[in-house]
Amino acid sequence: MADGTFDTLAVVGAGNMGSGIAQKMASEGFDVFLVDLDEEKVRRGLRGIGKTLDAGVERKLFTPEQAAAILSRIRGTTRFEDLRDADLVVEAVFEDAGVKRDVFARLEQVCRRDAILATNTSSFAVGDLASGLQWPDRVIGLHYFFHPAKNRLVEVVAGERSSAAAVARAWMLQERMGKTPIRSKDSCGFIVNRFFGPWLAEAVRLLDEGVADVPTIEAAAKQAFGIGMGPFELMNVTGIPIAVHTDDTLGAAFGPLYGTPDRLRRQFESGEAWDLSGEPEPAKFDAVADRLAGIVFYIASALVDEGVGTIEDTDIGARVGLRWRFGPFELMNRYGLPRAKQLVDDVAARWRVAVPRVFARQAAAGAPFAFTLVRRADADGIATLTIDRPDALNAINGPVMAQLAAAFHAAAADPAVDGIVLAGSGKAFIAGADIRFFVKNMEAKTIARIYEFTKAGQQLLLDMQRCRKPVVARVQGLALGGGVEIALACHYIVATPKATFAFPETGIGIYPGLGGTQRTPARVGRGLAKWLILSGETVTAEQALAIGLVDRVVPYGELDAAIRACVAKGAVLERQPHAVPDDFRAIASKYEATDVEALRASEKRVGVKAPIALRIASDLIDRGEGQPIEQGIAMELSHLEEIFSTNDAYEGLSSLGKRRPVFTGA
Ligand SMILES: NC(=O)c1ccc[n+]([C@@H]2O[C@H](COP(=O)([O-])OP(=O)(O)OC[C@H]3O[C@@H](n4cnc5c(N)ncnc54)[C@H](O)[C@@H]3O)[C@@H](O)[C@H]2O)c1
Repeated sequence: MADGTFDTLAVVGAGNMGSGIAQKMASEGFDVFLVDLDEEKVRRGLRGIGKTLDAGVERKLFTPEQAAAILSRIRGTTRFEDLRDADLVVEAVFEDAGVKRDVFARLEQVCRRDAILATNTSSFAVGDLASGLQWPDRVIGLHYFFHPAKNRLVEVVAGERSSAAAVARAWMLQERMGKTPIRSKDSCGFIVNRFFGPWLAEAVRLLDEGVADVPTIEAAAKQAFGIGMGPFELMNVTGIPIAVHTDDTLGAAFGPLYGTPDRLRRQFESGEAWDLSGEPEPAKFDAVADRLAGIVFYIASALVDEGVGTIEDTDIGARVGLRWRFGPFELMNRYGLPRAKQLVDDVAARWRVAVPRVFARQAAAGAPFAFTLVRRADADGIATLTIDRPDALNAINGPVMAQLAAAFHAAAADPAVDGIVLAGSGKAFIAGADIRFFVKNMEAKTIARIYEFTKAGQQLLLDMQRCRKPVVARVQGLALGGGVEIALACHYIVATPKATFAFPETGIGIYPGLGGTQRTPARVGRGLAKWLILSGETVTAEQALAIGLVDRVVPYGELDAAIRACVAKGAVLERQPHAVPDDFRAIASKYEATDVEALRASEKRVGVKAPIALRIASDLIDRGEGQPIEQGIAMELSHLEEIFSTNDAYEGLSSLGKRRPVFTGA
């Protein structure tokens, strides 16, 4: 625990949220105490978890054994004293400030001084809930979304007096649990509910004003926001009382624009669900979508003005928490700033509010909002560059590559920086290149753009490899394709036991083109490089360590110390391949000694891959031996047009995630 790792967690309140949070913690391998007021309530919470797990078994998300193991890690209790060894406790009791304060006072009595206490409150200020405590510095907000075992979003909230260390440790835990954390200021509604509640309210106002009927608003909203359920159906499913509560709270904090419309209150008082029946009228879709978008554009901009969240976190919140296809700022860009301006001006006029500064500036510039996709944070002379597209598993596209290059070169030139770390936010390190970019350019017959992208990427990776300062890859989760290649260009790869590595390229009709066919053999030798690239086999962190693909595997909480140790050792400008360990000798010899055609016939995993991609990849590995890296990557680039012109590449890339590709060797 002293290293920042967590063993025992606890949740107080075994209701809808608490039981789901406990389930998620247990499914990530933690021991969890689940506390409620009496035995029956504890049992009800555990029964709820059991049912969700059973449904997961039916859907083949877990085996019955895994579900049983998850359940066995959750200990139901009514005794706060049982939380004496908990490293972090999440409070998810009734939304009542008195009850919550009482829970914190009791936790303060029993928990260790270094335990983090978190509240899942939706409407109270974290700082207020912590104010009566002796040690308010360890109290933070962790605002999960229903269903907390399924919805990945969590808003991490620093209260007025929360310590930066507590926030950082809790953040790390969320990533370790596979959550997608975003940072929110301690402000009513945090980020997501602040615009989601008023978005629901605006739908009700549209109905009340006779702009459109329920089925029309539903259909227009689904189309405009790329969602499966419109606002009225959502209220029916999650509860009209919750919508009223959210809007009442926001209205009290921020004024009438945020308040509860009378029509919504009347529906709540009637106890009836919204009637969704009827045929939508497409002629009214634009009018509805514009009003819904306007209110979201205004509030999202206000959030950024007030420093509640960044544009990136606001968009992630919408995409991950609400499952909108686009975040508010992406949507503004898609509308175009001039049109978005009309909508925001309408909101400002209707509600007599000022246009948020961030929006006014952008509209005046007439340019789309630009997103920071790579964050830099410096500590102890180490610059950490984090790719921040967690819901896209940090996939690399043109803008990410450009920002990564700019951030890397700035850090490399910065005299205050002794070492550079590459990291990914959320549960993945980097899941390769953005496949949609490839498909789009193949369809538009602009393969030259793929060439330029690859060439720029190769140059950046070469600069990383040649950097005089140590460059470390911090691989805390999935590394795929281009993600592995980026890691391989670093001087050190430090991974957690959860990290996995794979080259899926030949299975989608292409080959690794960012130095993967050259730097993999340089680390693990030719035989194992062929095995990895031709079979696409996924290796665990432990296997990666054994074959020399990575340098260190350490528990999550020891990552930073291990990275510092690598930086202290300095840059690695030359390397020899790792000796093949005994367990891997047979496979290495087979792949090294057998030609591609024979491998296709004898190895099932190779047989299903794209034949042209296999041949080129194998050939590049062979021809790269003994060559300087510059030569090797130039050879990779020389086959790019050829491979992206094959039918198999189009088949592989466009079928990804939809169906199994059928390769014809053409
Ligand atoms: N429901 C949502 O969609 C949602 C989303 C995000 C956050 N939240 C927040 O999460 C919290 C819990 O919401 P919920 O929907 O799970 O409520 P719930 O009513 O389903 O569950 C609350 C549980 O807390 C227990 N409880 C109450 N006082 C207690 C105490 N002193 N000690 C131990 N247990 C106690 C209750 O018996 C009950 O089982 C609230 O703060 C709510 O605002 C809810």
